[in-house]
Parts: sequence; structure tokens; C-alpha cells
Amino acid sequence: MYYTIIKKLLGEILQEYIEKIESAKTLKALEEVRIEIFGKKGILAEQFVKMKTIPNEEKKEFAKNLNIQKAKLTALFDSKKTALIKAESIALMKEHAIDVTLFNGDSTSGSLHPINETMNKMIDYFVSMNFSLEEGPLVEDDFHNFEALNLPDFHPARDMQDTFFFNDKKLLRTHTSPVQIRTMLSQKPPIRMICPGTVFRRDFDITHTPMFHQIEGLVVEEGDSVSFSHLKYILEDFLKYMFGEVSVRFRPSFFPFTEPSTEVDISCIFCKGEGCRVCSHTGWLEILGAGMVDVNVFKAVGYKNVSGYAFGMGIERIAMLMHQIPDLRSMFEGDVRLLEQFR
Ligand code: DAH
Repeated sequence: MYYTIIKKLLGEILQEYIEKIESAKTLKALEEVRIEIFGKKGILAEQFVKMKTIPNEEKKEFAKNLNIQKAKLTALFDSKKTALIKAESIALMKEHAIDVTLFNGDSTSGSLHPINETMNKMIDYFVSMNFSLEEGPLVEDDFHNFEALNLPDFHPARDMQDTFFFNDKKLLRTHTSPVQIRTMLSQKPPIRMICPGTVFRRDFDITHTPMFHQIEGLVVEEGDSVSFSHLKYILEDFLKYMFGEVSVRFRPSFFPFTEPSTEVDISCIFCKGEGCRVCSHTGWLEILGAGMVDVNVFKAVGYKNVSGYAFGMGIERIAMLMHQIPDLRSMFEGDVRLLEQFR
């Protein structure tokens, strides 16, 4: 009898707390309900204490019922808690959400320096033609920069490259050609390489800065399989890739490290060969130097029975032409107003 009353009472209590759980709006409110129900002094604990007062024969039934009710409340509590956590985190995310599409008038983006951009374009071409990328030190010695390139001491052609010397016979490389020597000394033919990099000369005017960039190319194979026509093909193809539909002209020239040597011009990209101020009214723009590798260069690196071609060009000149930059010095002043124009 006693148990029936308690059971009814318990049913009512239960209903009250089911409603409390269901109506909790925040995790904090739910936590308070949890303490009321499951806490040390909560209603469940209270009911378990009551067990002592229940006659023995009804105890088992009572306990069973109480545990069922406890399980019900626990399940309800758990699902309410999960729902509230979810709702609260969604609200939190909404509150702190960043609208990435919002326009921020202040934002600025960087850009590649025109020299890097031009250099990358050149590298892309030669890499697509299976040339490897090689590197060499900026501080060179006389052997790699001059001697091995058929520019012995007191050779007048050394004058063409005003050199920065250090005390101990070291120097700042005046061109990327020493990398030819380093590559030939460390590898065996076939060689098919380019070397883009920084070079230094004692020069300063509107088309010269003491630090500038070049790209060097070298192809060497055993026997006499490399010919001038291979050189002509690759350079013509390269110049058309860089400048679009231009005429390409090969003029005989002299470099100590190539024989025969040539200088390569393109038809002026501004006047289409008509003659203008940029091309000094010649209709042509001088772009690079090239030739068949001189036997003395092969001798210096101990190569026998090989043939090869080489070429070298300044990157600044090409970047200046492509972007119509009048004064080279402005490229290295680091003035963002200039760089912003290339974004
Ligand atoms: N080293 C030359 C210079 O700095 C450029 C050059 C010309 C490189 C002809 C070459 C070449 O490899 O064959 O003026």
C-alpha cells in the first residue's frame, strides 16, 4: 500500500523534473536542474533514502521502479545537454563569424618584382625545354670568372667587365658564365643547363646598376652533334616565346668563351622595325650574346671530343623592354609606388 502511494508521488515528482529538464534554456540552467535531480541532496538521493522506510516486501519493487525512473531522467538529461551544447556552439559561431566576402578597403596585396617575374618566365621556357637549373657562388675566384673562360690575365676583354675585387684574389662575379665552368667540372656531358642569378659590375647610369641579373645557358654533348643551328633554333623559339611575333637577327660578334660568337637582336617591339627612339632608329633591339663554346674553355675543364653552345643575357634589359621602364635604377630603389604598378 505504502509503495503505491509512493509510486504515485514519485510519478508526480518525476513529471515535474521532466518538465524542468525540458524547459532549461541554457547549459547553466540545465546544470542547476542536474544538481536538483542527481546531486548528493537531489530528489533521487532523497528517494533512495526513503527506501529505508519501505516495508521489506515492497523494497525490491520500489528500487526497481526508482532505477527505471532514474534511467529515464538520465536519458532525457543527456539528450537535452547534447542539444543545448549544439545550440550554444552554433550561436557562438554565429556571433563570432567572419564574413570573408566583406570588402576591406585597406587591404593591399604584394606582387612579384618585375625582375623576378621576367626571370620566372625565362626559367619556365628553358625548364620546359629540359634544361636543368644550376647555381654558383656570387663571390667567385679569378679562375672560374675569367681564366677558364678564355680570359687570361691581362686579356683586354677583361676591361669589358668592370670588376669589384676583394683583397684575397676573390671577386664578385661579373657574369653567370662561371657557372658553366663549375657545371662542366662537376658533371659529365650531356649537359643542358641554365643558370639565372645576380651579377656585379662597377657601373651606374640609366641602363646600368652595380648589381643586376643574368641568365646563362650551356649545352654540351659528346662528339660534334651540337651545331650552331641548334643554338639558332632554341634562341629564336625562346625570343618568340618572350616577345611574341618578332624577327630575330644574328650578328657576328666576339666573346672570348665562344667561337664563333654572335649577338642576337629582335625587331623593335615598339615600332615593329620602323625605327624609333627606343631602338635608336635602327629597328632592332639587342637582346643577348651567344656562340659555340670555345675549345679553350673545354680544355680548361678537361673536356675532349665534345661540342656545345652557350648563351647569356641580362634580365633587366628584357624586363625594361617588356614593361617600358625608362630608368633601370628605379627598379632597385624599393619604392613601393613603382612596384604597385606591377601588381
Ligand atoms: N657573359 C657574357 C656577358 O656577361 C654574356 C654571354 C655572352 C654569355 C655569350 C655567354 C655567351 O654564355 O655565349 O656579357
